[in-house]
Amino acid sequence: MHKLILFASGTGTNAAAIMDWCKATGNASVALVVCNKEGAGVLDIAAKNNIPTLLINRESFRSADFVETLKGYGPSLLVLAGFLWKVPEAVVQAFPGKIINIHPALLPAYGGKGMYGHHVHEAVIAAGERSSGITIHYVNEHYDEGDIIVQAHCPVLPGDTPGALAKRIHKLEHYFFPHTIGYLLANV
Ligand code: GRF
Repeated sequence: MHKLILFASGTGTNAAAIMDWCKATGNASVALVVCNKEGAGVLDIAAKNNIPTLLINRESFRSADFVETLKGYGPSLLVLAGFLWKVPEAVVQAFPGKIINIHPALLPAYGGKGMYGHHVHEAVIAAGERSSGITIHYVNEHYDEGDIIVQAHCPVLPGDTPGALAKRIHKLEHYFFPHTIGYLLANV
């Protein structure tokens, strides 16, 4: 069975969608949730699903031990689901082509440092865009610059608030993230 390691910093609705998909399909299991934020919602979600968690700080994240710990799980994929720290080069190099991220906009637009969460949706609305969407891409040493795997689009409606757009984008994410993981696992 394929093993996934999830990285998340926040509420964890994407992590929950991936866990549900794993249970429903039996195609993979989540072996570990890595989180950098004490009290983050994703930690409760992991606990409810009996999935071990690893709380990291800046130092442990950059240690050689961390790479070894990850390797110990034998993951098929490392999945960044709302994870806000830049992945260290040593981790990228230890798992070539095996780290993916989801971004709540159509990259290369509205990506890069500082473009996360509501900042992205605010910028999209302020620019008067008529559509937005999600990008699932490989992770390399630079923020939001790895090769794109999948993009899915949705409209930006007149009068949209960042919150309303975020809700529409989350729906895309919760469907396409697990299914893209399924596609990648079937083709590795
Ligand atoms: C998602 O919109 C994801 O694209 C972004 O952060 C958000 C995480 O949401 N990178 P959640 O914690 O999965 O609910």
